[in-house]
Amino acid sequence: MAGDLEEILVTAEDMDKRLDEIAGEIDAYYQGEQVLMIGVLRGSLMIMADLSRKLSTPVAMDWMALSSYGSGTQSSGVVRILKDLTEDIKVRHVLIVEDIIDSGLTLSWLVANLETREPASIKIVTAVRKSEAVCRMNVNADWVAFDLPDAFLVGYGLDYNEKYRNLPFICTLAEHVYTS
Ligand code: IMP
Ligand code: MG
Repeated sequence: MAGDLEEILVTAEDMDKRLDEIAGEIDAYYQGEQVLMIGVLRGSLMIMADLSRKLSTPVAMDWMALSSYGSGTQSSGVVRILKDLTEDIKVRHVLIVEDIIDSGLTLSWLVANLETREPASIKIVTAVRKSEAVCRMNVNADWVAFDLPDAFLVGYGLDYNEKYRNLPFICTLAEHVYTS
């Protein structure tokens, strides 16, 4: 297993410091308004737990589960709701909490879906954005913890076939793992 992991790109300490900065910006932006954080399961559990504990903004939390990748490493472009929200988001301030934006397909689909439910606002925070997503995406993340190169990443919520989510850091997965 150790040989499956390559390079650590974001340490636990890097993430902690960066989330302090982002939490400050989010608090300044919402000015004490009530916010509904919507975590996209399962990868966003780490950033949801860490970021929410740094906010002074009053927040509620809800979760959605979407399928986009299956077990591979390529986005299929097909998004299905596996678990929908419990909360009604009408006239509420929604903050989508993502683990990673890669092609941006999942996120643009999600934003369009949530817009039909008439929230007061939709903002997006993500732990990672891949550099290629910057040019390909048609939705913008409002807060990005780290822009990282276009490699397959695991840790801090990110998985490969449900493994490695619990790593406290983000690292690259050796190519032999997902090509064999
Ligand atoms: P997108 O639709 O291509 O932006 O990516 C959707 C989902 O793919 C993300 O929410 C992740 O669950 C998964 N994903 C994309 N890139 C990676 C990666 O490098 N490691 C682990 N999961 C990834
Ligand atoms: Mg995800």
